Amino acid sequence: MGNTVIIGTQWGDEGKGKIVDLLSKHADYVVRFQGGNNAGHTMVVNGEEFISHLIPSGIIQQKKCFIGNGVVVDPFVLLEEIDYLTQKNIDVSPDKLKISNRAHIIMPYHKVIDTARETKKGIDKIGTTGRGIGPCYEDKAARRGLRFCDLLDFEYFKEKVRKVLEEKNFTLEHYFKTDTIDPEDVIARFEKIKERLNPYIADVSVLLFNGMKNNKTVLFEGAQGVHLDIEHGTYPFVTSSSVVSGNAANGSGVGPGNLDEIIGIVKAYTTRVGAGPFPTELFDATGDALQKIGSEFGATTGRKRRCGWLDMVILKNAARLNSLTGLAITKLDVMDDFDEIKICTSYEYNDIIIKDFPADIKILSECKPVYETHPGWKQKITGITDFKDLPENAKKYLARIEELSCVKIKIVSVGPGREATIIKEDIFS
Ligand code: GDP
Ligand code: IMO
Ligand code: MG
Repeated sequence: MGNTVIIGTQWGDEGKGKIVDLLSKHADYVVRFQGGNNAGHTMVVNGEEFISHLIPSGIIQQKKCFIGNGVVVDPFVLLEEIDYLTQKNIDVSPDKLKISNRAHIIMPYHKVIDTARETKKGIDKIGTTGRGIGPCYEDKAARRGLRFCDLLDFEYFKEKVRKVLEEKNFTLEHYFKTDTIDPEDVIARFEKIKERLNPYIADVSVLLFNGMKNNKTVLFEGAQGVHLDIEHGTYPFVTSSSVVSGNAANGSGVGPGNLDEIIGIVKAYTTRVGAGPFPTELFDATGDALQKIGSEFGATTGRKRRCGWLDMVILKNAARLNSLTGLAITKLDVMDDFDEIKICTSYEYNDIIIKDFPADIKILSECKPVYETHPGWKQKITGITDFKDLPENAKKYLARIEELSCVKIKIVSVGPGREATIIKEDIFS
């Protein structure tokens, strides 16, 4: 397998964790390159469930894992996750995990500001995960963020916390009208964990470069989905990082020439958590059925996911933006009992047919999906491991996705377990 990037093509929760876990077997290194613990990636191995928010999903296969410079890291959550995985007999020692010294730290005040901002927005809120992701990326761009390398120089770290909080406290008190934060409390919290974090901090870019020179294969694990991307998503109802494959290089400190294969993960239908336009959203019994059968609850916040039919306008957008070389279709089994399945092929807006994803969410909100209807397969498919054994109607549905997206399907997932997977095209050689 060449160096492979895994990205979500929709609005997140496509099943990236499952596919990363599966492909990790064929990789030496697994790297997260953006986002933070807003992500929730679920793996099911021999019936046991693992959820990772920050640590690359490749840790379950005990590969060397890296958190790249493009990730924003809440160190308290990171340590909790290390403890959680250790309890499950997964080795997360510094030998297995390195965090980029350039990665930005999600500070306690970022979480407070995230929540305060959402509360102030009221009905206009984005529906963030409240993990401080946006405020941390804001500080990164404003050049007042704290990075893991700053923890290694604790005197500087303390000084910076005091300085940054002068401004934050002014905003908290006078704009958000909430409690202020004592810098000495923040410093004391970090004092307690810094020694434990230190051995994990490294120059990830250099480690990846040296590894690749020695023929190590890297799997890049995306979080969120293309339509939550800060540049290309349904702005402002997006996350604060660049989610697309191009950022796999930048967010982990490798050159773009190192990316060989780019696999887009596509849920066989569409889901979205949080606010923002979603043209194929269903408000009827079919939407409820997708939500229930698919157990569509957020792995991070536990919120119910909004559900709808597969949208090829967004999938084609993802194919173009990411140079997808293959697709992995997940959760096909969720539609086993459906009589009919719809695919949105374009949008209708003011009597005009739109085929390209609009930038303006006011337009997107008024777009009506144009559907084609396919017969269901009415058969349980979990347990099938050979593509040729899939029911004909399931194969036709998949063939239509390939035809409309112009991207080959390489993997089909038919259940949450690692084993419930059909490898359609070998990407391992
Ligand atoms: P991620 O954020 O993209 O990694 O996706 P999540 O883990 O948040 O959500 C995907 C959910 O679907 C998880 O609960 C997975 O265990 C589950 N899942 C993944 N693939 C399949 C599949 O093919 N069929 C079914 N039924 N569940 C799946
Ligand atoms: P994974 O990696 C689904 C959504 C939030 C909200 C918006 C902004 O599991 O696919 P943020 O906290 O990032 O500022 O919230 O983005 N969101 C996700 N939705 N899956 C995710 O990650 C998400 N990460 C963020 O619900 O609408
Ligand atoms: Mg998720």
